[in-house]
Amino acid sequence: MRVLVVGGGGREHALVRGLAASPLVDELFCAPGNPGIAALATLVPLAAEDTPALVDWARRHAVDLVVVGPERPLAAGLVDALEAAGVRAFGPDRAAARLEGSKAFARDFCRRHGIPAADYAVCTDAASAHRAVAARGAPVVVKADGLAAGKGVVVAGDDAEAHAAVDAAFAGAFGDAGATVLVEECLVGVEASLFALCDGARALDFGTAQDHKRLGDGDTGPNTGGMGAVSPAPALDEATRGRVLREIVEPTLAGMAAEGTPFRGILYCGLMLTADGPKLLEYNVRMGDPEAQVVLPRLMTDLGRLLDGATTGALGHLDLHWYPETCVGVVLANRGYPDAPAAGSPIAGLDAVAELADVVVFHAGTAARDGAVVAAGGRVLCVSALGADVAAARGRAYDAVERITWPERIFRRDIAAARAD
Ligand code: AMP
Ligand code: GLY
Repeated sequence: MRVLVVGGGGREHALVRGLAASPLVDELFCAPGNPGIAALATLVPLAAEDTPALVDWARRHAVDLVVVGPERPLAAGLVDALEAAGVRAFGPDRAAARLEGSKAFARDFCRRHGIPAADYAVCTDAASAHRAVAARGAPVVVKADGLAAGKGVVVAGDDAEAHAAVDAAFAGAFGDAGATVLVEECLVGVEASLFALCDGARALDFGTAQDHKRLGDGDTGPNTGGMGAVSPAPALDEATRGRVLREIVEPTLAGMAAEGTPFRGILYCGLMLTADGPKLLEYNVRMGDPEAQVVLPRLMTDLGRLLDGATTGALGHLDLHWYPETCVGVVLANRGYPDAPAAGSPIAGLDAVAELADVVVFHAGTAARDGAVVAAGGRVLCVSALGADVAAARGRAYDAVERITWPERIFRRDIAAARAD
């Protein structure tokens, strides 16, 4: 197969690494990719959001399968455009991608199908949002409806903070994503994520992870795209996993099919494990970043066969197997992230770390300059390590982090440290 991966972050590096190892994949391309991906795939200098150019390129190069990593091209209908042009694609079409693209759609969908989630109100003007905040009272969650790269959510501990968040959203703090705002019940518990590989009718458990979304140690500071993760999620025991599959994943697949918008791709269920059982915090319609960088290194089954099977309705014939090790990933971000990451600082020591057993450094916001790797984004690297248990994996990951010479980096020192269970 000739496979094109769309995207250029750490998640896409993890997808490319898995596909590069697949005996089914003869040629691998990535648009736009990054310097880490360049070692495994041929880079195509097209932006992940340039739908017409990607469709044209895939057709002209006889690509057999396009794997779309990020949410924005999915929400914009890249899969629809590829399929209309006769190119097979892995990922949900535009209608199914609304599960992530509109939090209001997702909440209404859960209500229609009895899927456990936070109680909520959808508000399209500031006055009604202020009323909803007043009615619920703090703690309360205020969220932008649309895609805001993990940054459009305020968990307000007091009413003033919630009202300020409403004002900020309607003043355009999240751009168009904040034109509609959700005011939600604040769920209390431990967070974890479960992924499901879906072919429209069937879902296979595609692993679990626990992300660390706040910038600082001890879950302090602003929300980010994710500062590190561990897989499997320590808090998701077998029984809870079974409940999530039965109470959330299966009704989601069935509901989407019944509504005429079957879900194909990776369904990411962001969960709060509450005293009343697991509840859905959010759907994403693709692998997480950095969750992919800790889930995929544990996958034993051929990723090429799985993604191919999900697009041809052949999942029923496939089994998934995992390595028993735990994987911990530590994100190295650029000083100034998430607001205003600095750019251009050189990173050294990556070649030495590449020699370490059971450690992989995934590139995200890097660039190549005069033969050196430099920082070129917010989240720059994810250092993932496998170990016999959480402690061994995190010891190995942090040991590798210390060997990377990059003074401008910021990272959390407590990834996977707080065993939530
Ligand atoms: P989301 O982008 O919707 O996942 O929200 C980002 C983060 O905000 C989540 O990972 C949670 O930590 C928090 N959050 C979102 N919704 C709620 C909720 N209803 N109750 C408590 N925390 C929430
Ligand atoms: N790490 C959270 C996400 O990918 O949305």
